[in-house]
Amino acid sequence: MSASRKLPKRFFAPLAVGAPQPLRELPVRLERMIHFIPPHIEKIRAKAAALGDQVDVLLGNLEDAIPADAKTAARDGFIEMAQANDFGSTGLWTRINSLNSPWALDDVTRLVAEIGNKLDVIMLPMVEGPWDIHYLDQLLAQLEAAHDVARPILIHAILETAEGVKNVEAIAEASPRMHGMSLGPADLAASRGMKTTRVGGGHPAYGVLADDEGQASRPFHQQDLWHYTIAKMVDACAANGIKPFYGPFGDFSDEAACEAQFRNAYLQGCLGAWTLHPSQIEIAKRVFSPGADEVAFARRILEAMPDGSGAVMIDGKMQDDATWKQAKVIVDLADLVAKKDPDRAAAYNS
Ligand code: GLV
Ligand code: MG
Repeated sequence: MSASRKLPKRFFAPLAVGAPQPLRELPVRLERMIHFIPPHIEKIRAKAAALGDQVDVLLGNLEDAIPADAKTAARDGFIEMAQANDFGSTGLWTRINSLNSPWALDDVTRLVAEIGNKLDVIMLPMVEGPWDIHYLDQLLAQLEAAHDVARPILIHAILETAEGVKNVEAIAEASPRMHGMSLGPADLAASRGMKTTRVGGGHPAYGVLADDEGQASRPFHQQDLWHYTIAKMVDACAANGIKPFYGPFGDFSDEAACEAQFRNAYLQGCLGAWTLHPSQIEIAKRVFSPGADEVAFARRILEAMPDGSGAVMIDGKMQDDATWKQAKVIVDLADLVAKKDPDRAAAYNS
């Protein structure tokens, strides 16, 4: 154990006298989409309850896309919206401003003081290393103690700088308060000097050209620009028992490309994505809910191997202890989806 790491028994100690006990396991929640809303706009706040019924997580955005002269109104609006509604099993999150901005400290102090018992997760942008998590972790513990907050507010980091990607494992293991991480492709592209102005998704010039074997045209196949980072993020999260997410997809007019990007992330292990426009909510539900056929097959695997070990053949396909675990991931997810989504519950026979 290196001296720069806490001893395991200290890792789970509250960081302030009177702060709630840090969690050893994340709460089991369905989080297929994190739906962003700009809380300074009254018309949007008025729709918050209805939106909350449709989505798994509702996030009041305070950072990028909120104009500098509306930062205080967004914070006030989010607090008002949280106080006025009971969102039930729908998660209530916020994205605060980055720690080096003039707004971050007031964001955190006001949110914990006024809605600390309603807020599930704080999304922290521009996380560069574990030091950012440690700072927010300590501050949250002090404020939770001061304001009688009963359960710890979790931290979700945005992976959106080259330094953050380099330190992704240290970020993932920085605190028991870590909920997970999202890929932030826009800021990450800028930080890395990538030559794309898109918010997520591919680029037509990034691909593989087949060898020239004398054929009339050489097939070119576009590749996923985000494959490496998502894989790195998924490994860091899975290794620490926290949750990986794809972030934003900015081209609302290209629903097929959004769906393809979400699906790549889902297949690689991500649990959800951000939705910035209402049209993306259904896309996220389609992608991040397992298919009925897949659920039925996974149930057959669990039934054929009740104790989760050994080997059986189902429809000519070998199943063993490892595929039992894969099937369990899918069935557990289907059970969560069924509780929120009556149509899918019927399709899953739940
Ligand atoms: C999200 O914050 C991004 O920068 O893509
Ligand atoms: Mg960003």
